[in-house]
Amino acid sequence: MATSAAARKTPTASTKATPVRAPAKAKRQKDACDLLDADHKAVKALFKDYESLTESRSRSTSKKRQLADQICKELTVHATIEEEIFYPAVRKAIKDNDLMNEATVEHASAKDLIAQIKGMEASDDLFDAKVTVLGEYIDHHVKEERTEMFTKARASKLDLVGLAAQLRQRKDELMAQEEHKVVKPVAELAAAY
Ligand SMILES: [Fe+2]
Ligand SMILES: [Fe+2]
Repeated sequence: MATSAAARKTPTASTKATPVRAPAKAKRQKDACDLLDADHKAVKALFKDYESLTESRSRSTSKKRQLADQICKELTVHATIEEEIFYPAVRKAIKDNDLMNEATVEHASAKDLIAQIKGMEASDDLFDAKVTVLGEYIDHHVKEERTEMFTKARASKLDLVGLAAQLRQRKDELMAQEEHKVVKPVAELAAAY
């Protein structure tokens, strides 16, 4: 039997297939390794700035002092959040004590150099060399964190997104404390008069 004209439905606006947009790929939440690596990149940029200052044979020791202090502050806070929060959690999760012990020893060497830089005058002959060597230490340390520690942490069952929130909160607290350290002597001086 021939199909009647009425039965032969002409596609209307409502029956036409509307192109369905593929759901946007869920954006991966930033995890603890992303957060720490952002610190690594920020401090690397500061070391580059310092290198440019030394290459320009700048006599501006105040600019060097300012940059070196900024590097020391960023690294101190970064090492603290790693040691307080990230390293203990990763140590438990990846069960690689050698790797974690090496990283801890590298932190101690970096902290020793940071203390020396803080105690020196920027005009000291060895000041540039100390900052340069600190940058080299950190490059080596970051490479190991990225290629070994972060890879193992991401392959473990660790809640790295939850850990990122803890790291962020502690970093904010420590940064605020560091800022306070800078203004404290001035405040104390004012109170003494
Ligand atoms: Fe580290
Ligand atoms: Fe790190």
